[in-house]
Amino acid sequence: MPNNETLLDLEPYRIPQHVAIIMDGNGRWAKKRGLPRHAGHRAGAENLRRIINASVEFGINILTIYAFSTENWGRPEREVRALMKIIARVLDQELKELNAQGVCLHHLGDMTGVEQDLQDKVHNAIELTKNNNRLILNVAFNYGGRAEILHAVRQMLADEIAPETLSESLFSSYLFTRGLPDPDLVIRTSGELRISNFLIWQAAYSEFYPTPVYWPDFGRKELYEAIVAFNQRERRFGLVTETP
Ligand code: FPP
Repeated sequence: MPNNETLLDLEPYRIPQHVAIIMDGNGRWAKKRGLPRHAGHRAGAENLRRIINASVEFGINILTIYAFSTENWGRPEREVRALMKIIARVLDQELKELNAQGVCLHHLGDMTGVEQDLQDKVHNAIELTKNNNRLILNVAFNYGGRAEILHAVRQMLADEIAPETLSESLFSSYLFTRGLPDPDLVIRTSGELRISNFLIWQAAYSEFYPTPVYWPDFGRKELYEAIVAFNQRERRFGLVTETP
């Protein structure tokens, strides 16, 4: 989706194939404006549209977003309810456009405890978009990295995997991200420097890009800057740099 808003020349840069984002700072964004927290989440949800458009425009293949963690159930009930409503509304309002854009939706996480109506919306969105191939959008919803690993181990035990056959790639195939490459770049907005139980297996070698910008303000230009910073890193995957 070309966007001539400003010319951002990505020509010299390598585009990370898989970008994962911890969308943080909605509450502080709202507080700074004297607004209730749910207004921050609404603005955060609206911002998703900008970042999906920019991801398609920049040629990112996989975008993974942390929408709701297993720990988020511990927030005040009103806030949890508001978040669920916002997620349901985004699915209602954006699904047609996402499908037209070639976005393929995946869910990472566990649906236990989620209202049936929202579960149905998520399944319907996954089914509708399953053959799209422009951008895979992984929505980590009721997701926790440790819970994901436990889920994988339980499945492997149920499948009676022999210990000597267990490899990193076999283990990866039991995770919610099965079949997808690990993230090249993990972005966290709002200045926090933690991984917060997000993709803890998959992000072992990802480049981490923290930015002080609150999620609702993290737009196309900020994503471009993250890609430029990614290009300035040297990914060594535990190896040493060759010296002449
Ligand atoms: C963190 O900000 C953000 C969240 C816990 C929720 C992210 C959810 C959205 C952007 C809603 C839309 C998602 C979808 C998939 C439609 P925070 O509340 O922790 O901010 P704070 O640290 O400033 O309080």
